[in-house]
Amino acid sequence: MSHTIVIFGASGDLTSRKLIPALYLLHKKGRLPESTRVVGVSRTTFTSDAWRADLEETTRKFTGDSFDAAAWTEFAAQVYYQPGDLQDSGDMETLAGFLNELEGGEASRIYYLSTMPKLYPIAVEMIGAAGMADQSQGPRRVVIEKPFGTDLTTAQQLNSRVHKVFAEDHVYRIDHYLGKETVQNLLVLRFGNSIFEPLWNRNYIDHVQITVAEEVVVGRRGGYYDTSGVMRDMVQNHLLQLMMITAMESPVRFDASMVRGEKVKVLQAIRPMTGADFAQNTLRGQYDGYLNEEGVPSNSQTPTFTALKLWVDNWRWQGVPFYLRSGKAMSCRTTQIVIQYKEPPLTLFEHCESLEGNRLVIQIQPAEGLQVHIQSKVPDAGMRTRTTDLDFRFRRQFAGDLPDAYQRLLLDAIQGDASLFARSDEVELAWGIVDPILAAWNSPAASPLMKYEPGGWGPEESTKWMYKQGRQWFDVC
Ligand code: BG6
Repeated sequence: MSHTIVIFGASGDLTSRKLIPALYLLHKKGRLPESTRVVGVSRTTFTSDAWRADLEETTRKFTGDSFDAAAWTEFAAQVYYQPGDLQDSGDMETLAGFLNELEGGEASRIYYLSTMPKLYPIAVEMIGAAGMADQSQGPRRVVIEKPFGTDLTTAQQLNSRVHKVFAEDHVYRIDHYLGKETVQNLLVLRFGNSIFEPLWNRNYIDHVQITVAEEVVVGRRGGYYDTSGVMRDMVQNHLLQLMMITAMESPVRFDASMVRGEKVKVLQAIRPMTGADFAQNTLRGQYDGYLNEEGVPSNSQTPTFTALKLWVDNWRWQGVPFYLRSGKAMSCRTTQIVIQYKEPPLTLFEHCESLEGNRLVIQIQPAEGLQVHIQSKVPDAGMRTRTTDLDFRFRRQFAGDLPDAYQRLLLDAIQGDASLFARSDEVELAWGIVDPILAAWNSPAASPLMKYEPGGWGPEESTKWMYKQGRQWFDVC
């Protein structure tokens, strides 16, 4: 069966920066199924040739040394453009006719929604109304970019409108963090090895830290970012995804239903915050200079940093806090998960530095790999010890660049594997965790918005907050 990927929002940034380069690189590596075609749809009037020429330029830019003119020409021959307004039923019927003619029979189709988020429900309804969600001529799947709603209510409304046209099995909600090799490797680390899992619980682990720090400021995205802030932009999706994979039980099989079933149980076990919890367990900050960003109101209270302490009420994790932290304008770009083990029950040796329990540091990016921190004897110094590490880096062990997340996710969507996509209940449960915190933050008493200088690790209070709990952030670039 042939495949068609229909991209709505074809003239947008995501299409040229991520989707087309990923599809082109998949083609170049011979991973795209034979006769896969790409059809771009947007309101801009382009011809297919003009769109191909534009895409060639941007793909050359975004794939760098991996660009190969001959492979591009081959790929571009299967790229088409169809101008149209997805809100216009005439245009959608024309598109349906164009696709049917192009495919000439049975074909599997993906509708990739890369439009403005407010158009997602309309796009899905118009696809349905034009008969394009009819599954009789081959599977019809829809891929929906984040943000999936702006709170629980809007996410539920979106789910319900989408489900009127597509069954859940055909809905692929993207969180690009799940496409990262190192995030998938976390599943392999935990469930493909036997030495970590026995130690992966409340008996040995003191706490878990999940940090997604970005050096960048919001820049030109101020208009969008200010309505979103760090909770909606990063925590509801990327950080909770990392937390689910860190905390989940082993699935019985590696398939979409089992994996997502286990992930959802983690969200269900997160203890809801009430009353004083918001003041004690949440921090929020805004970097100095944010108010001068283009598109940001001068009195904006939108947080660009947060630190949260969450509890997972189940047998494995009872009593183990999960610290989640994310911010813009931080010291460096790093995404890492730190599993902090308890200290040994008895101190027999003298330490060079302060005593540290073992630590497993999972580097999601950019220095992809992992380190196990262990105490070692300092040579020729009696029985003094120091923290040293066992260091695994992807780049040392494997040749070639790690593929961009979109390659894996697009291929999975083409092949009908939804394991690395968010399910409807997962997205709604995640909003159910984020919404009460956002509501509490409407009252400054819950957790005042603290200013922080760009280039550090967020508000000073964040460091003090950890010290008060007898812990410290593991801040390493
Ligand atoms: C996006 C957010 O989802 O993820 C951005 O909207 C953020 O604000 C980006 O910068 C981070 O992604 P990555 O892959 O660079 O860590």
